[in-house]
Amino acid sequence: MRSHYCGSITSSNIDEEVTLYGWVDRRRDHGGVIFLDLRDREGIVQVVFDPDTEEHFERADRVRTEYVLEVKGRVRARSEATINPNMATGEVEVLGKQLEILNRSETPPFQMDEHTEVGEDIRLKYRYIDLRRPEMMEKLKLRSRITASIRNYLDDNGFLDIETPILTRATPEGARDYLVPSRTHEGKFFALPQSPQLFKQLLMVSGMDRYYQIAKCFRDEDLRADRQPEFTQIDIETSFMDDQQIMAITEGMIRDLFKEVLEVDLGEFPRMPYAEAMSRFGSDKPDLRIPLELVDVNDLMQQVDFKVFNGPANDPDGRVAALKVTGGAQISRKQIDDYTKFVGIYGAKGLAWIKINDLAAGIEGLQSPILKFMPDNIVTEMMQRLEVADGDIVFFGADKAKVVNEALGALRVKVGEDLNMFTAEWAPLWVVDFPMFEKGNDGEWTSLHHPFTAPACSPEELAENPGESLSIAYDMVLNGTELGGGSVRIHQPEMQKAVFKVLGINDEEAQIKFGFLLDALKYGAPPHGGLAFGLDRLVMLMSDAKSIRDVIAFPKTQTAHCVMTDAPGEAESKQLKELNIRLREKAKA
Ligand code: AMO
Ligand code: AMP
Repeated sequence: MRSHYCGSITSSNIDEEVTLYGWVDRRRDHGGVIFLDLRDREGIVQVVFDPDTEEHFERADRVRTEYVLEVKGRVRARSEATINPNMATGEVEVLGKQLEILNRSETPPFQMDEHTEVGEDIRLKYRYIDLRRPEMMEKLKLRSRITASIRNYLDDNGFLDIETPILTRATPEGARDYLVPSRTHEGKFFALPQSPQLFKQLLMVSGMDRYYQIAKCFRDEDLRADRQPEFTQIDIETSFMDDQQIMAITEGMIRDLFKEVLEVDLGEFPRMPYAEAMSRFGSDKPDLRIPLELVDVNDLMQQVDFKVFNGPANDPDGRVAALKVTGGAQISRKQIDDYTKFVGIYGAKGLAWIKINDLAAGIEGLQSPILKFMPDNIVTEMMQRLEVADGDIVFFGADKAKVVNEALGALRVKVGEDLNMFTAEWAPLWVVDFPMFEKGNDGEWTSLHHPFTAPACSPEELAENPGESLSIAYDMVLNGTELGGGSVRIHQPEMQKAVFKVLGINDEEAQIKFGFLLDALKYGAPPHGGLAFGLDRLVMLMSDAKSIRDVIAFPKTQTAHCVMTDAPGEAESKQLKELNIRLREKAKA
């Protein structure tokens, strides 16, 4: 057994005999003395072999990078001149006495130091080697500390860790299901859970009172840097607590976590209604580290002669908004062109702007491609509303409100990043008072959260005016990322039916899909509610990673492919036959 981890040896171990196990990070031959940097999970220590230990010296001469070794030796101080302040173990080294080669290694497919840029595909193909890199190891160690802290908190607060099925029925969270064909039930399929939502509600009906699970969820959706087809939720449900109490207990969990793991005090999280977040930031997950806001100018633009602006300004679903960037007049034409392309991704048809060069000079002191379309008095009034100063730039978006919000909301973050305008390292908040429903592409209502979320009104009011109904739902947002979301649930069958009705799910369909839930609500369902955090996103933010792929040991690519195991793979025809599945000609090819 090892006596120490390589990375844990310090001056306090001087003169101790140690036994180490690890991988050769680097081997150097300095005229008769061999230096091996031996690496394990906890770090690197330098081991020196000199020719006095003849047999072992010879072996040391034969080792190569990534060989696996057992080393016995004595810790000694390095001479003043050879101390390495960049290394945690840089004040000491181990004088090697015995060396066993436990295994050899071929030359690794890529260099593992942090300076070498390696393509992600090759890193994922040899993920087991990629994970040897200290920065990757640190991320997984941090992930483990985070789940330990969370488990402790929830345990201290009386939550029970209960597992729920993976082979189940569709759980509607807005994505496509991963289906698993059943062999024993011909022509039928399990769905992998998009979340444990329905089961955790049923556990409340059972009287478990406080449940949690670090749960794998599966969603077949378009992937991005913060989305994976299988990901992990910290899933929570409670009974007899209202939205305020649920937010308080889960906010406490995140606050304690940051204090314990990062020594950061997040303070009390502000709350913001959904409508305010959309109006001021164009987003339901605003990044409050960036001090830029959207300002409505609909009323002013209703009066101008410029169709691009007065059209949306007079459209009830339209919006004309301005984004003032303090000191942004330095932004070049080329950069504005790039920003115009950038907002185009979100469907914006252009990006109008006004630079404020010299406010005292009136209209003459402004520079813009749109001034010619606007009466001077409107421009002056707008400049006053926006409280501009010399050196500012104002961008404009005019379109359907959805397009303007997405385009200017994203531009706000992009400009904030480009000009490094961050005012804080961490900016958490709760977004509350979400609408119950939003209009889908075909004009039908869809749930903003999920169909089990309780509305803040009666079933009658809901049926009367679905578009205006608010839900008792809440999202936790951190630095512009939606960390988690939840709601108080419907616990009475009448209300659940009313919601299904708005969603166009008739009684028969409701009975087939969710009959078990509707039944359960009839047998003494307590008032209940909960929330789920995205663990991968939480670890990504806390470890300052750019993608959740970097905090998942074996992630999938953007096309939901595992490069290492080459999953998904083909099935043998025998298997398919057992499952009563025949592939279409196209899929076979
Ligand atoms: P929701 O769908 O908002 O809510 O998911 C909760 C949190 O899970 C994370 N998340 C993801 N992380 C990585 N990859 C994905 N594809 C992905 N999708 C979601 C996000 C998100 O905030 N059952 C409800 C919760 C509840 O009401 O209790 C639910 O699943 O961080
Ligand atoms: P045009 O008259 O189309 O050349 O547009 C004049 C200016 O308005 C240009 O700077 C365009 O980028 C901008 N613009 C065009 N459409 C929009 C829009 N929907 N929202 C904001 N700006 C726009």
